[in-house]
Amino acid sequence: MSTLSRVNRISVPDIQARKGAEPVVCLTAYTTPMAKQVDPHTDLILVGDSLGMVLYGFETTLPVTLDMMIAHGAAVMRGSSQACVIIDLPFGTYHESPEQAFRTASRAMTETGASGVKLEGGVEMAETIAFLTRRHIPVLAHIGVMPQSVNQTGGYRARGKDAEDAERIIADAKAVADAGAFAVVIESTWEPVAREVTSLLSIPTIGIGASNACDGQILVTEDMVGLFSDFTPKFVKRYGDLGEEISTHAAAYAADVRSRRFPGPEHCFGADKGKAKIATVGKVRRKAV
Ligand code: KIV
Repeated sequence: MSTLSRVNRISVPDIQARKGAEPVVCLTAYTTPMAKQVDPHTDLILVGDSLGMVLYGFETTLPVTLDMMIAHGAAVMRGSSQACVIIDLPFGTYHESPEQAFRTASRAMTETGASGVKLEGGVEMAETIAFLTRRHIPVLAHIGVMPQSVNQTGGYRARGKDAEDAERIIADAKAVADAGAFAVVIESTWEPVAREVTSLLSIPTIGIGASNACDGQILVTEDMVGLFSDFTPKFVKRYGDLGEEISTHAAAYAADVRSRRFPGPEHCFGADKGKAKIATVGKVRRKAV
């Protein structure tokens, strides 16, 4: 990582300064080519553990490892030059203690060059967030629906519908902000709750299924461009159908190969030189022997 690329990137304080000023544009990326595409258009790129489902075909995010996150995080850093890159900490790598979280987060940052980490949890993670932020690790918190808790919650049902749950989410938001998180992702949460949290906190709220009231928005890029269709949450807006496009191109390629239309002479080496050339090569070889 060059010093220049770090200097030119949007920083964590830049993201914080967007509160009440300009919406924060965030997308996920897991690979160098995807990072190259989204980097010019985003303020923050999240290397999300959603890669477990989107790239690896796991049923949940739980099997994702720290080594996977580091490999993909480094790839995204190589493909980006201006967005602030944040790495998700995977399940089981930060829950045991603040010290475990520090070891995990410092590896994620030093081995990728990313600017900070994201972790899931509200009140119960406040102590860990405070431990990390006091030790110079910027933390993006994540509350509302938390995919790493799917075994406990039984699914991804939207949060904050009744007064009791709304209070829990507001308490989570205040706890992570007081602990020093630089921003907070709010996932699948009822609009009035997201609006209330956004007005209460002095840090930016980044919504995913949490309405336009949030200070910024994030989507999984593959959802947004139609490259992942196993499951499309209500909050996703599809801007394209790249999955369909890839299938169309693969079908055209298959038809070309089967009918011997591909490769054409323009894709071959020496195809226009004909038999004479082969004969010359043959002569040279015989001479050498
Ligand atoms: O893992 C992820 O991609 C995320 C975003 C959806 C916020 O956590």
